[in-house]
Amino acid sequence: MGISVGLVGLGGFGSEFADLFRSHPAVDRVALCDMEPDRVARFAEKESWRGKFDPSDAYNSLDEICKSDLDALVIITQPTLHAPQAIQAMESGKHVYSAVPIISLPDGDEILDWCDRLVKTCERTGMRYMLGETTYYVPQAMYCRRRAAEGAFGRFVHAEGQYLHDVDEPACNLREVRKWRRSSKAGREITKMLARYEGVISGPMHYPTHSVSGPISVMGARMTQVCAWGQEDETGDDYFKGALTNEIALFRMSNGATARIAECRKIAHTGEVTFCVLGTMGSFRPNYWMIRGQRTDLTIEDMRDPLPQAVQEAYREGLGSAHFYGGHGGSHAYLVHEFCDAIANDREPAINVWEAVRYMAAGVMAHKSALAGGEVLDVPDWGDPPADR
Ligand SMILES: NC(=O)c1ccc[n+]([C@@H]2O[C@H](COP(=O)([O-])OP(=O)(O)OC[C@H]3O[C@@H](n4cnc5c(N)ncnc54)[C@H](O)[C@@H]3O)[C@@H](O)[C@H]2O)c1
Repeated sequence: MGISVGLVGLGGFGSEFADLFRSHPAVDRVALCDMEPDRVARFAEKESWRGKFDPSDAYNSLDEICKSDLDALVIITQPTLHAPQAIQAMESGKHVYSAVPIISLPDGDEILDWCDRLVKTCERTGMRYMLGETTYYVPQAMYCRRRAAEGAFGRFVHAEGQYLHDVDEPACNLREVRKWRRSSKAGREITKMLARYEGVISGPMHYPTHSVSGPISVMGARMTQVCAWGQEDETGDDYFKGALTNEIALFRMSNGATARIAECRKIAHTGEVTFCVLGTMGSFRPNYWMIRGQRTDLTIEDMRDPLPQAVQEAYREGLGSAHFYGGHGGSHAYLVHEFCDAIANDREPAINVWEAVRYMAAGVMAHKSALAGGEVLDVPDWGDPPADR
């Protein structure tokens, strides 16, 4: 028997995942949930959804869907809501997939507190949590983790990761994204809630998962110390009211390497999420592998892990095209597969809560350092998954 999954949040990003979850061969029942009924209807009325979706599995609130007997919830709501919603879902006996980040709030101490509560909830309830970090499954990250497993890097020396996304990037304008996310019923509540942070200075390091997950997951190491600097907006742009524009951090890592991480929202070079990892024996930069000056160029197919044949076929059939890998470097198909396979086989997903809090803690402490003018700060950690999970 397959697993049952409820999709909570069918806005812009959630919609991109709905057909992948519906098509996955480990899933035999899918429920739909959004506070905006038309966003549920868009899928509920589709012919292709008849096989795995029953109209009694349409919900308009998280509270309602938490009372169901579903195995797992996929939470792709606004970023300020994820952690409390994930905890509510796990408390009601459901495994959780959450869009990134764990939570985004202006106050870093509150983010760390939510990380702590999330880890404790996983431990107490035994439920599984996976963070849907897209960079973890870009082909470059898959390739580097394979090389790391072979020991091909030698000793890790240094890594770099960057998420460069100008606020006015034409392909994804962040002013429009914010306006859209605040326009729904849930979004209007968020605007009211955020008013209490007047005077708190936030920054792009509070959403660090795209830039740190490559270096952390490839090296299998965590950030231990950080110093960072941030930049203020010099133009009085309302978008950056109460927030730094760009933050650059240097980390010391638990394996002795260093990592330079850049999170930039006001920068002409934009639309880039990349990383490199340099070792004593081998190094990776996008998209080539290098050993002492000898360079091997890599194609996407060279770098990508193969998806199981049955999963590929199910995606192909369900999505009606050969383009089933989805957005963000084709990572969507892998994220869905990893979560469904982990829940169906009762194992920890790759980006489990202990891995996910490492990404967040690195960013939160980098922002704190930036606010303190580059002071060197320790990065907290919650350890590895317990051996019996
Ligand atoms: N590369 C990436 O990993 C990536 C890219 C884009 C977006 N995201 C993340 O995806 C998330 C969603 O972004 P989006 O653009 O789709 O936002 P959106 O505003 O379009 O969608 C969010 C949806 O959640 C629903 N919702 C909120 N609370 C709810 C509740 N309690 N019960 C039922 N429905 C509820 C809203 O009604 C809305 O439809 C964000 O957190 C964002 O950070 C990640």
